[in-house]
Amino acid sequence: MTSTRGEFSSRFGFIMAASGSAVGLGNIWGFPTQAAGNGGAAFLVVYLVLAFTLAYPALMAELIIGRHAHSNPVRALRTISPNPLLARLGAASGIAGLGIASLILSFYAIVAGWMIAFCLASLMDLFGAAELSAWLTSFGVVRNLLFTYLFIGLTAFIITGGVRGGIERWSARLMPVLILTLLILIAYVLTLEGATEGLKIYLLPDFSRSLSPDLILRALGAAFFSLSLGVGTMLVYGSYLSDEENLPLLGGVVTLVDIIIAVIAGFLILPAMYVALHSGVHIFNADGTLISEDTLIFTVLPELFATMRLAGVIVSITFFFLMSIAALTSSISMLEVSVAYATESRGVKRGRAALVIGCAVAAASTLIIFDFSNLFGLVITLTTRYGQPLLGFVFCLYAGWVWHRDGVLQELLKNNPEAEHGLFWRIWPWYVKFVCPVIILAIFAQAALG
Ligand code: TRP
Repeated sequence: MTSTRGEFSSRFGFIMAASGSAVGLGNIWGFPTQAAGNGGAAFLVVYLVLAFTLAYPALMAELIIGRHAHSNPVRALRTISPNPLLARLGAASGIAGLGIASLILSFYAIVAGWMIAFCLASLMDLFGAAELSAWLTSFGVVRNLLFTYLFIGLTAFIITGGVRGGIERWSARLMPVLILTLLILIAYVLTLEGATEGLKIYLLPDFSRSLSPDLILRALGAAFFSLSLGVGTMLVYGSYLSDEENLPLLGGVVTLVDIIIAVIAGFLILPAMYVALHSGVHIFNADGTLISEDTLIFTVLPELFATMRLAGVIVSITFFFLMSIAALTSSISMLEVSVAYATESRGVKRGRAALVIGCAVAAASTLIIFDFSNLFGLVITLTTRYGQPLLGFVFCLYAGWVWHRDGVLQELLKNNPEAEHGLFWRIWPWYVKFVCPVIILAIFAQAALG
């Protein structure tokens, strides 16, 4: 193992970095509308239960494997078993993880680029540069390429700084800004007319919808994406943790922060949509469901901001700034998976690895932008509906079946001699062995068949 491996300087640093990875576009543009359209508070309860009973154990599988190996996913999975075939399969799964993480980054960077462009567009409005603003918000190839490259450049720049000087430093700076910005926006939007109606839609429970099997599986997929599981991201972050830390506790905190931010984001998005409705903006699709995702963020909200005049320009700048930050602390965790492998297992210097892999991701994004209507949705489906659950399944198998039970316990005892008698050790090994793989397979089957 290389002695020059990075390590988070503190518990706080890890929590900022890992929750920075978890909290991203998924929390703010995905979760709130999904909840509102699927039973409100009832969806929330289902999501909460799933996050803690299934996503949290899967997160722990990655963190424990990573911290044990203090290495990148490829090497970590290769060294878990002395059996050469299992070692080779482990390494192959690690490589697949790198590929999927990079592909996720290739579409995530396009969306994040739009966030930056919209933020700048509102700034231009403030200075009266209407033409430039219109260009920034129009869907053109040049604009898309430019801002995707800019975003990947920022991501690679932070990764070049290393674990402490890059990932930890920037996550610890940006996450508090993100939380503060979110709270300020909520406080403002809640004072506007129509806001309470949105809150009602968000919070009134309707259990008839949230308990359908299809929805439960969808909620679980969303939880996996939101906690950055199944590509080795959390495994890599776990590998930068010191042996002193209490893993079950840290994993719990990260899960909680991710959920809380998703729930809080609903207090912004739903009221904002009903404020928009109040100002005459359409917020429903033809079939009566709430408009969500890209149309919500890039059409409904900008229309709302436009009705608010000067205040709207400032709220718009703040909102898209918030989205850009949320995306950036997530994208660095995607790039780090491959960079960790290139530096440790291939002996490439960190800066060069970030540059080369960043360029490869940018090339993939370029292809997607040129054939947007075919490739964008395809890459999202392949990576998040198939790739993530399948690899999440493999990680659970390695933590539950391949890795010897004593080895796992030793890892947990490192920081917590009481662990053997704790609730976590009594439940988790069974969970990760039986329950997690079965449920993940169910998600996968549903994705494959449906
Ligand atoms: N969790 C992030 C979000 O909610 C996205 C993300 C970061 C991610 N790293 C990942 C998703 C790894 C899948 C795999 O937006």
